[in-house]
Amino acid sequence: MIIIKSDTDIAAMRPACKLAAQTLDMIESYIQAGITTDEINTLVHDFTIAHGGIPAPLNYRGFPKSVCTSVNHVVCHGIPSSKTLKNGDIINVDVTTIMNGWHGDTSKTFFVGDVNPRARKVTETAQTALILGIEKAKPGNTFGDIGHAIQSFVEAQGMSVVREYCGHGIGKGFHEDPQVMHYGKEGQGTMIKKGMVFTIEPMVNYGKAGVKLLGDHWTVVTRDKSLSAQFEHTIAITANGAEILTCST
Ligand code: MF3
Ligand code: CO
Ligand code: CO
Repeated sequence: MIIIKSDTDIAAMRPACKLAAQTLDMIESYIQAGITTDEINTLVHDFTIAHGGIPAPLNYRGFPKSVCTSVNHVVCHGIPSSKTLKNGDIINVDVTTIMNGWHGDTSKTFFVGDVNPRARKVTETAQTALILGIEKAKPGNTFGDIGHAIQSFVEAQGMSVVREYCGHGIGKGFHEDPQVMHYGKEGQGTMIKKGMVFTIEPMVNYGKAGVKLLGDHWTVVTRDKSLSAQFEHTIAITANGAEILTCST
């Protein structure tokens, strides 16, 4: 069941979404060779608390940290650790913030120093895929239209879209209905309506789409060890289109 948000509800979600986006802005200058993903976790955790938020990942279904950090062939849900970033890495930082009981969820893939053309291409493709998906998010379109826009663009670049993880409704819950697939057919699936609030968060693999779950039960990696990149926004459907809520300004 998709929970439709009133204008008042959407206004109440803005602070959580804005703080999540500001957290990503804050972290950008720290993304340098030599930092550990645990240090990124501490920065995100402390910044969130200092601004009156709660980091949603911490203890969510047993997740042990306050942010997801997914490096190179890690697709999503990477657990911060003593691992050090090195020049040429790409890292997705996925921030979910709770404020006043509402969630905001956003992620970006950052370059560590100078990256190779493959890393650049997969990252830019994921970013463009998110934008193309958001452009289809409006009343009268369907969720299939969003998925199709993302899938057709990514595959035209010779890359692939992960199938096992998707975007999601969001509000008082971290993961609400619907599941927002990043693949699909035009005109298929549920109709998009004003007041829906959900994430779009395509995971793009440079190689094949297959993934596997590591023994820690969280870390998802590409089966073929190719690079993977992801971008995510929380959006609200308005009368004419989508408003990106996870915007830092
Ligand atoms: N932020 C992720 C998402 O976009 C979910 C992370 S769940 C966690 O939906 F437990 F790993 F934090
Ligand atoms: Co999400
Ligand atoms: Co997220």
